[in-house]
Amino acid sequence: MKITILPGDGIGPEVCRQAANVLVEVAGAFDIPLETEEHLIGGAAIDSAGSPFPAETAQACRNCDAVLLGAVGSPAFDHLLPNERPEIGLLKLRQALGGFANLRPATAVPALIDSSPLRREIFEGTDLLIVRELLGGLYFGTPRGISDDSSEAYNTMRYSVAEVERVAHVAFQSARKRRKKLTSVDKANVLETSRLWRETVTKVGASYPDIELDHLFVDACAMHLVTDPTRFDVVLTENLFGDVLSDEAAVLTGSLGMLPSATIGGAVDLYEPIHGSAPELAGRNIANPLGAIASVAMLFRYTAGNETAAAAIEDAIKWVLDKGHRTEDIAENRSMPVASTSEMGAMVAARAVEFANVKNAYHAV
Ligand code: IPM
Ligand code: MN
Repeated sequence: MKITILPGDGIGPEVCRQAANVLVEVAGAFDIPLETEEHLIGGAAIDSAGSPFPAETAQACRNCDAVLLGAVGSPAFDHLLPNERPEIGLLKLRQALGGFANLRPATAVPALIDSSPLRREIFEGTDLLIVRELLGGLYFGTPRGISDDSSEAYNTMRYSVAEVERVAHVAFQSARKRRKKLTSVDKANVLETSRLWRETVTKVGASYPDIELDHLFVDACAMHLVTDPTRFDVVLTENLFGDVLSDEAAVLTGSLGMLPSATIGGAVDLYEPIHGSAPELAGRNIANPLGAIASVAMLFRYTAGNETAAAAIEDAIKWVLDKGHRTEDIAENRSMPVASTSEMGAMVAARAVEFANVKNAYHAV
């Protein structure tokens, strides 16, 4: 398995180092041959190569089985135009790889329920998967721009039937492996793109009679996420709505730092925690590496097709949390001793290898 690692900016390199270590250790435990290569993206790439997505990075990303990314974005580039910023590196990467379905699971981890901003009785049992369309909508629609005198600016939300269909299939198939419920989120009371979205999802749904489909407006969805999150199983939505709703869902779990993501459907899969580069935490060895590490679990699940390895990592994360280890962002109270980024990463890696060995031994019998 050939993996390209893009640490990026801010806390990206720190969390990526821990995730890459788990990748190496667990691949070793399962005798999966592994080759890794590191490349630049985002602000780090602007600094040393003059572009947020240098050709050399693009080349490495096209010639591998999966890309593991830390985070991009840095206040040092706040003065740049939107089309020159570090974030463009990530958008170009997503386009180059072609993955259109971004899977963002948000689950109530029992050990962390009291870190959730929601009351236990509302949040307990939450287990949802946001399927975010990743290559369309306002992020990429044209025309886009700012008038010459900067007095107005515009973006275009555009979706084709084919773009909605392909991501809808991923969402229905995901629901089939879960609790068989799909909520499609749109703004069909106002937007034409959303009407097309709703019609198309409904049509695709006809070939999944075993899946219960409902539709919600995005504002209502944002509300239900905080009042009744257990009503959701799979949530399917367009790019920008998915960006917003996934931050909301993530923070319910206790911290934005916890959540992983997988982007599938293209030539090369992409794995990244959903959090950003958190510049204020960078370089201090305090960021939560669990979102990045859980993204490696998703890599084993989807790219390597090794569910046992994925489960070893996910179980290790739960085990370490159950034992009371916390990074600063998920510590229940300020007097609690906290683990650093590297300590948390090392604990999960060691436990994941142990679980992997146990599972291997079990399979060998
Ligand atoms: C995310 C991020 C990105 C996005 C940014 C950094 C471009 O917020 O992955 O959710 O908006 O998609
Ligand atoms: Mn986001």
